[in-house]
Amino acid sequence: ARKMEENGTNRVYKVILIGDSGVGKTSLLMRLCKNEFKSSMTATLGVDSHTKTITVDEKPITIQVWDTAGQERFRSIAKSYFRRADGVLLLYDCTYENSFINVRDWMSAVVEGAGRPLPTMLCGNKFDMRETSARYGKKCVSTEQGKKLAASTKSHFIETSAKLGTNVSECLNELAKLLLKAE
Ligand code: GTP
Ligand code: MG
Repeated sequence: ARKMEENGTNRVYKVILIGDSGVGKTSLLMRLCKNEFKSSMTATLGVDSHTKTITVDEKPITIQVWDTAGQERFRSIAKSYFRRADGVLLLYDCTYENSFINVRDWMSAVVEGAGRPLPTMLCGNKFDMRETSARYGKKCVSTEQGKKLAASTKSHFIETSAKLGTNVSECLNELAKLLLKAE
């Protein structure tokens, strides 16, 4: 048992998946765990959890992801999970500026709930839609803006598409590395 612990094989890392409603949290997790995408999704109520084992530096690492509801009325439920979390996947929708503006509030909520900042991956999701959205005059969030915010909040940054699967596994891999480093 001791040996297993040293390998980290029986340690389950807990990650909270947070961000405004509709940014694609559940979609990202579905892509990650089932390799599926649905264009019509229902909002998450409360919190769902999925466990995924990935390999980092040839070692297995098990991550339990808590998919929280972004809707305001469920916020207190989501927040009750922050204290036990080891890391954060914070999503915004790069075609919806408001969800990016709210990132800082989510970060404050984590510090408040967890009592400390947690290793955080900031994800600009719906990357596949940005070009078209911008062409239709929608105010979008650029890669530069995302990078800048991540740098100023000591988080790591990636742009993802749950729809196409772009950078989805990379996103969890990056976070896993942060979790191992934080040990
Ligand atoms: P809550 O559960 O309410 O907090 O929302 P959520 O963050 O879980 O969002 P959800 O995964 O339910 O996705 C909302 C909508 O965005 C759905 O219609 C998805 O199909 C769509 N969507 C999610 N990710 C992507 C993406 O990467 N690209 C595109 N084009 N659409 C996406
Ligand atoms: Mg959801």
